Amino acid sequence: DKGGYRHFMEKEIHEQPDAILNSLAGMTGEDGRISANMSREELQAIDGIVMLAAGTSHYASQVARYWIEGLARTPVACEIASEYHYRNPVTTGITTAIAISQSGESLDTLKAMRHAATCGLSTIGLVNVDGSTIAREADAILPTHAGPEIGVASTKAFTAQLTVLISFAVALAEAKGHIDAARADAIHDQLQALPGLVGKSLKLFDDLRPIAHQLKHARSTIYLGRGHLFPIAMEGALKLKELSYIHAEGFASGEMKHGPIALIEDDLPVVALLAADELMEKAASNLKEASARGGRIILIADERAVNDIDFEADIITVPAVDPIIAPILLTIPVQILAYLTALDKGTDVDQPRNLAKSVTVE
Ligand code: M6R
Repeated sequence: DKGGYRHFMEKEIHEQPDAILNSLAGMTGEDGRISANMSREELQAIDGIVMLAAGTSHYASQVARYWIEGLARTPVACEIASEYHYRNPVTTGITTAIAISQSGESLDTLKAMRHAATCGLSTIGLVNVDGSTIAREADAILPTHAGPEIGVASTKAFTAQLTVLISFAVALAEAKGHIDAARADAIHDQLQALPGLVGKSLKLFDDLRPIAHQLKHARSTIYLGRGHLFPIAMEGALKLKELSYIHAEGFASGEMKHGPIALIEDDLPVVALLAADELMEKAASNLKEASARGGRIILIADERAVNDIDFEADIITVPAVDPIIAPILLTIPVQILAYLTALDKGTDVDQPRNLAKSVTVE
C-alpha cells in the first residue's frame, strides 16, 4: 500500500521523521538518555571497529567513522563487504565487527560478518529486519526501526542507520569517558529535534522540481562534499545513478584538484553539500573553483552556510543544525532530487532496471 503516494520511494522519503524517531527511541534508555543497550563493560571492551556493508549501508558506515573516531576516539575501518570476505585481514587492534544491512540478508555482508567472526572478532548486526539472518547470527544487535522498506533505493533505512550510529558513537564515547554528559545530552536534544527538521525539509519537493527537470538531461554529474558530507556525496551519486541511470560520481571536494576537476566542462551539474562547520570555507572555495571552470553548481546547504557564497549556484537550504547531524538532514534533499529527476525522466522509480531490493547472491 503506497498510502496515497505515487511510489513506495516517495512514501518512504516521507516516513523518515517516524523512522528517525523510532530508531532514536530504540537507542534511548529508561533514564531518557542515549544508550546502546550494552553494559558499560561491553562498550569499554570495544577498542577498534571494522564496519562491513554494501551500497548505501556502506556510506552510512563511512559517516559513522567520523562520529565514532571524533566522539569516542575509537579507530574505525570501513570495508566493502564483498571485498572483505575474500581478504585475509589484519585484525590487530580490532575487537569488533559491525555489519550494517537494511535487509539483514545481503549475502556479501553476511559472509563478511562470518569471516570477521572466524578472525576472532565479536559481531554486532545493525539491521532493519528483525529475525533476518544477520540479526540471528550476530553476537549483538543494534536495530533500526524504519519499518519495511519496499523501494529498491534505500532512503528511510539510511537515515535510521545514521541515527542509530550517531547514538552508538555517543554511548561509546560516554562509556570511555571521552564526552561529558552535557555534550552527550546536547547531541540527544538535536537528534530529538531532527524529525521536525526533516519534516520541514520534506517541503523542498517544489524547490527541487525545476532543478530535477534540468538535471534529467545531464549525461554525467559530480557530487561533492567534505568531511562527513563526503559519504553523503557518494550516497547522492548512488541514488541518482540507480534511479535515473545518469552517470554520477561522488568526490571529496578537496580531492578535485588532484584529478577529477579535469572532468568539469560547461554546464556539468555539480551537486554540492555544505554545512556550517569548520570545513565550510575550504569546501566553498573548492566549489568556487568548480564554478569558475563552468560547472553548474546545485548547492544543498545548511541555511547558515550560504551567506557568503560568491559564485553562481542554484541554492537549496535546510534549517540550521548542529553540524554533527548535518549529514542526516542534508540527505533529505539529495534523495528528493534523485527521486524527482527519475520521475521527470520516466524511469521505474521503485524497481530500477537490473536491481533487486535484497541481494542474496554474490
Ligand atoms: O539490505 P542492505 O542494506 O544490506 O543492502 C545493501 C545495498 O544492496 C543497498 O543499500 C543498495 O545499495 C541500495 N539499492 C541503495 O539504494
